[in-house]
Order: sequence, then structure tokens, then C-alpha cells
Amino acid sequence: MTLKKNDPPLGKRRGIQLGQELWARAKEIIPGGNMLLSKQPDRFLPKYWPTYFSKAKGCNVWDLSGTKFIDMSLMGVGTNLLGYGHPEVDEAVYRAISQGNMSTLNCPEEVQLAEKLIEIHGWADMARFARSGGEAVAIAVRIARASTGKENIAFCGYHGWHDWYLATNLTDAQGLDNHLLPGLEPSGVPQSLAGTVHPFKHGNLDSLHDVLRAWAPAAIIMEVARSEEPQKDYLEGVRELATRYGSVLIFDECTSGFRETYGGLHTTISVEPDMAVFGKALGNGYAITAVLGRRSIMKVAEKTFISSTFWTERIGPTAALETLAVMKREESWKSIIRKGQEITNGWKTLSKKYELPIKISGLTAIPSFDIVSDNRTIYKTIITLEMLKSNFLASNLLYVSLAHTSDIIKDYLSSLDPVFSLIKDLESGRPIESIIDTPIAKTGFKRLV
Ligand SMILES: Cc1ncc(COP(=O)(O)O)c(C=O)c1O
Repeated sequence: MTLKKNDPPLGKRRGIQLGQELWARAKEIIPGGNMLLSKQPDRFLPKYWPTYFSKAKGCNVWDLSGTKFIDMSLMGVGTNLLGYGHPEVDEAVYRAISQGNMSTLNCPEEVQLAEKLIEIHGWADMARFARSGGEAVAIAVRIARASTGKENIAFCGYHGWHDWYLATNLTDAQGLDNHLLPGLEPSGVPQSLAGTVHPFKHGNLDSLHDVLRAWAPAAIIMEVARSEEPQKDYLEGVRELATRYGSVLIFDECTSGFRETYGGLHTTISVEPDMAVFGKALGNGYAITAVLGRRSIMKVAEKTFISSTFWTERIGPTAALETLAVMKREESWKSIIRKGQEITNGWKTLSKKYELPIKISGLTAIPSFDIVSDNRTIYKTIITLEMLKSNFLASNLLYVSLAHTSDIIKDYLSSLDPVFSLIKDLESGRPIESIIDTPIAKTGFKRLV
């Protein structure tokens, strides 16, 4: 079943009601309601977000009552680049399960995956695996600290929930505010970690240089790019500074990896780190993350204790091997870039048609837009509200997947057209209260609690 504009109002739809009821219960028995901030319904559409899914396939998601939506938003928060439930990846996983996912012995797939990732990244000699991005980054940070014998870390960008990262806000409560998630609370992080982590500004070599001069850190950890495509000159400068100050250069490619090329985004600009971290898209929805590095650094992992039971299960590396094979065969990165361009061109056309200035940012593979207005968060909420009525899960950020066909993109853009028209009316003075009866979407962290 697919929603139609003239179906009952959102608040009367069964799947939405069921989702909202379950979320209310979840908040009673799961602190925060779920395990990932980005999937909290208040960040999309308080009151009406379907919140829970019963099934996902391609770029379709069914709510608890079996109503189908087209996902033009987070696609599992970037995990499902090939689409949900990719037949070949799932088939490889079923085969692995039929042979047993766990045993006292190790699974050979982890060695095959290490070989594959090292083959793709010529500068790397060794790999370790984990199951979440945050823990993979924590592994990289531990190895960098152990291999240099130093404690301080220089970073920019988002790197997960671990103590080493949140410690930034022990020294300055706003320390992380310019790094994707403002308002993160370091509550529970030992005060003794204060002053061990030092943010620098992306794109500004002087800012990094200041941190290096002051702290000579064990590692520089950063995303290659987030709000725009990677800048070769800047990253070459970072590489040179890292070498000069003896800091391990770690590229966190959890989000950027394998989207715009077959491997880390850094391979497109030929700047080689000392370590790199991959997650998200690597297993197309199955949990697998990786840390790659040069032998001299990675060997230290043998001296410091880094070990966990479920890092040895078989589904993760099996899914990753199949995902990489499908990506390679389909040259997924080429279509992803093409689709991303189709989408951003569509946004630009609507912006021009309705004389609504927008700011587009992000990688072509993960584009986002903001309507240039003091009401931009209200408009973002209205986009989600109106698009939900047309059976799209949408906000202003989209992780492009192979499942987003040109027809789907066209349908999405034609459903977005009247929403831009509506927003134009609002900008011209139509009262916002006349069309929105839900609180606006939350952003950042603090305002959620
Ligand atoms: C660059 C980067 N590093 C680390 C993480 C943390 O990954 P996870 O949520 O799997 O712990 C993310 C998640 O968004 C990320 O984008």
C-alpha cells in the first residue's frame, strides 16, 4: 500500500499511530528511545514520523501497518549504498549463516577482506576489523597513541561517541560545536582526559599548525571531506605537517569511503594517510568496520590489548566481500555521482523556479540543501511533513543509493515541486501556523533531551 495525498490525515494513519505509540513506550524503557541519535523521530517530524519499519527493500521502507514509503533520506544512515536487502549480499550472508556464523575457530573471510582492502589501498599493509564506526576509530586512536608513545590528539569532524572524542568538551563546552553535532555532553567522561584532544578547523592549515606546535599530538584524525569535495592542496598540506610533527595521520572514511570511488575518498586526490577507518557502506547494512594502516604502526596493535568477541563473527566480513564485489562490477561510484548530480540539479531548478535561494552542501554522493531563510529549520520540517503525505521519507539530506533510479528521482522532484511552491508562499507572508501542526524537527544534541 502506498500513501496518497487524499488519504486520511497523517495523525489518523495506522502505521504512524503504531510507530508513535511504540516510540512513546521505547522512551520509557530505553534511555533516549533508541541507540542512534540520527534515527530519533524528533529529528525528522515530531508527532508524525512512522519511526519503525517492518520491511525494507531497494529504497522502499514499509511502516508497521505495511504502508510503503520511498526513502529519499538517510538510507540506513549511509549504510545501504547498494539499496536495502541487496539480493547478492543477502544471499552471501544466508550462505554464511547456513555454514555457521560463529565457532571456536576464526572465519577465513576476515583474512580475505584484509587482503582486499589492502589491495585497494596500496599504502596500507595491515587491517583490523570491528563492528561500529566509533569503536574502529577508537582502535585507530589507541594504536596511534601506542605507536608514538604520545597522548594528545588533533582532530576535526565527527568521530563517534567514545570518551577520547567527547573529552574535547571537558575543556571547552563548545569544543565540538563546529564538528557536525553541537551540544554534545561529556557527562561521564573522566575529567582526567581534559586537555588531551584538540580541535582544528577543516580547510585551515594555520589552525592545524597551531595545534601541532602546541601539542605535538600522537595523531591527526579527520574526515577527508564532509561539506564539500576533498581539497587536494589542503590535504597535501596536512600530510606534510603530520610528517613534520611525527603525528600519525588518520583519515576517518566511515562516511566518505566507497561512495565516490572504489575505496577511500583520499584515493581520488592521491594523498596517503598512515591509517584509515571505514564503516557504514562497507557491509551494505551488515555490521563491519575496518582500520587500515602501515605495518610499522599497525604492529603495535599486538602490544596493546584490542580484542572483542563479536569482532570475529562471519556475517560482517562476508557481507563486505560481496558488497565490494558488487560495487566493483557495477562501478557503483559512477552511478552514485550521476544520481547525486541529478538530485542536486533538480533542487537548483526548483530553487530558480520559485526564486527561493538554497545552499547546497555535502559530497555529491551525500548532498543536502538549506533554504536560505531564518525559518530554514521550519521549512525543513515542512518538507518532511509534505513529502510524507506523498509517501516519501525525505528531509534536506540524502544518502544516494544504487536503488534510486532516475524514475524515482523524477517522482521525488515532482513531489518536491509543490512543497517549494508552498514554502515560497510562506516566505511571502502566508502564516506558517496554517500548515504545520507539529513541533519543528530537532537539530544538534542538547535540545533533544
Ligand atoms: C566520520 C565518522 N566517523 C565515525 C562515525 C561513528 O560511526 P558509528 O555510528 O558506526 O559508531 C561516524 C558516524 O556517522 C562518522 O560519520
